[in-house]
Amino acid sequence: MSKIISLHGNNSSLILACNDTDLPQVVYWGSLLKLSKDEQQQLLTQLVRPVPQAFLDEDVPLTLVPLWGNGGFQLNALAGSSVAGHNWAPQFKKIISLDSTANSLIICAQDEQSELELKINLTINQWDVIEHSITLTNLGTQDYQLDGLLLSLPLNAQINDMMQFHGRWIHEFQTQRSKIDQPCYVVENLKGRTSNDNPPLLIVGSNGFNQQSGNVYGFHLGWSGNHTYKVNTLSDGRKLVQFGERLLPSEIMLESGARYSTPTLYASFSDSGLNGFSHNFHSFIRQSNKFIPHILPYRPIHFNTWEAMYFEHNLTQISQLIERAASIGVERFILDDGWFKGRNNERAGLGDWFIDKEKHPQGLTPIIEQVLANGMEFGLWFEPEMVNPDSDLFRAHPEWMLQVQDYSQPLGRYQYVLNLAIPEAYAYIHQCIYDLLSQNKISYIKWDMNRDLVQAGGVNGQAGVHQQVLATYRLIEQLHHEFPKVEIESCASGGARADLCILRYTNRVWTSDCNDPYERQSIQLGFSYFFPAEIMGSHFGPAQAHTTNRLSTLEYRILTNFFGHLGFEQNLLELSDAECQQLAHYLKLYKQYRGLIHSGRLVRIDTIDSGQNIYGVVNPAQTQALFAIVQNDFPYNMIADKLRISYLNPEATYKVKLLNTQENTGYLMKKSVPLCAGELVISGKLIAEIGIQLPIMHPQSILLVSFEANII
Ligand code: GLA
Repeated sequence: MSKIISLHGNNSSLILACNDTDLPQVVYWGSLLKLSKDEQQQLLTQLVRPVPQAFLDEDVPLTLVPLWGNGGFQLNALAGSSVAGHNWAPQFKKIISLDSTANSLIICAQDEQSELELKINLTINQWDVIEHSITLTNLGTQDYQLDGLLLSLPLNAQINDMMQFHGRWIHEFQTQRSKIDQPCYVVENLKGRTSNDNPPLLIVGSNGFNQQSGNVYGFHLGWSGNHTYKVNTLSDGRKLVQFGERLLPSEIMLESGARYSTPTLYASFSDSGLNGFSHNFHSFIRQSNKFIPHILPYRPIHFNTWEAMYFEHNLTQISQLIERAASIGVERFILDDGWFKGRNNERAGLGDWFIDKEKHPQGLTPIIEQVLANGMEFGLWFEPEMVNPDSDLFRAHPEWMLQVQDYSQPLGRYQYVLNLAIPEAYAYIHQCIYDLLSQNKISYIKWDMNRDLVQAGGVNGQAGVHQQVLATYRLIEQLHHEFPKVEIESCASGGARADLCILRYTNRVWTSDCNDPYERQSIQLGFSYFFPAEIMGSHFGPAQAHTTNRLSTLEYRILTNFFGHLGFEQNLLELSDAECQQLAHYLKLYKQYRGLIHSGRLVRIDTIDSGQNIYGVVNPAQTQALFAIVQNDFPYNMIADKLRISYLNPEATYKVKLLNTQENTGYLMKKSVPLCAGELVISGKLIAEIGIQLPIMHPQSILLVSFEANII
């Protein structure tokens, strides 16, 4: 007997057809759709599809777990076999239970021959984000080798466009648009961490979807190891997206009674473009209790020592940096790499988590005391999962690294990966961090992870990425429970470990090592599709960026980072008094607006000039907004366009104020525009429909514009 089960979020629905002899199939995913009993019956009649010539004689529905055994061909979502090579084509025709509420469905199904059981979880939450995972249990007596278990969601045939994410070190979160067509796109990440190259992020949508319009579906696998995703278009026109962990050979062997749970696939639909999709994801991350909250009521401004001094820890200089940082308005001072034993360059020391006596003869106490006395918090850099061959730890325990016996493996940044699934290695690292956190007033950890995994052989010699990822989560979670007031940032040479599983245990992501604002514009834009501003570690650096050598103004640098969790790293002692004052001015301005930035709705405006980014935040009451108009490249047209924002209240009147002035009155304009003269008063309706005339801007410059509604 077939029946319809509907799951509803606030603005979207997922409708499934279920019966007693097969796994459910998703028959609708889109805008809110509530069906009467009659309509549900009518829908069932419309699930009967023609059977074409030269094909199987029965229609094969696209279920939540397409299988070889049922004619699922390349969509097969469960791969594996029992040791004798059997049980590789199960069917799961026995539905044990099917429990649903208004927004969730749990199905338990078994395959009698292979003695495997699937438990499928599907929820659509109030923020319209689907959370989907599956647990596979081996009920039989033989071991079952699992080769892959994918989470599948169908797309309707009108979804033709795709935005994929890729990148590399100092160039993360880049996007690429293409058409979805036959046959199939397969993306694999085998780097052992979430990765820059192929992060588990995907957005698809209707033709030409953009920031403000179109039907958009976004997908993200919450997992910090290997993964794969596929965008399938079948020859019969059906489309399916699949995400899952990419398992290495024999990585998961399920003994009798053992189970494997997939990471969670997060997916969301919006009929209002990328902005609508981001709003769903951001609201979920902000408001659900799945992610740990930040400790202070605000995100403190960071100063990080890395680009100010690298490995050279000169105590006098550090002391001067502390004084200067505090006087400018910094709220958290972070001592980056270089503080522990033997760490004079990147070739030595990882693993020896003891304060270097030569650089810090009195430990970190004098530094921390001075930081606290100046009203700031203190943070410290770690890279716990790594070991340099030149370290006491490696000399004592070479067997603690992730490795395949009798093979040599390449170093990465002169380091190997510690196998945290070895209990003694885990205990050692945990104890080192525990001691440092208990003995020092540390409020924040920058938790780094600077290399990809190669030959990641686990304890029993088998592939061990899966175990390593779980052990890392365990370690961070344990420390989080022991020190709940310590915030942790997920860093992986920048943004190579940004995902919703690591974010269950960490408060912030280090987005990129690149602090050149020109590059950061695209990096941060890419990041912003899935993750909200307060999680985005956004640092600026010196006028000449260390990673690109490009020169840029302080305004462009600092305002580029305004729409994230602000910080900076540069040798403050080289700044003139005027520069310090300018910096202090902007930090003060940021403090005034960060509450809005970190809670408001992010909106990006479609522009006709591809060298221009326009984005901003609007508070829920639509009484306050802050926008950045960013001219990255030379303006496309001779005269600038108007700024049209349709996310304000058309009934309200706004005071519109330009918050920075100096850099946009130069050569490109003979006469400026009213916006540059100061304050404007203009209705929300006019702003949406006609717009505010922008000035002609120089390349690499930003205007920061505030909107305050006149409450009558
Ligand atoms: C990584 C990080 C940097 C810095 C260095 C220190 O590259 O991404 O921000 O902390 O390590 O070695």
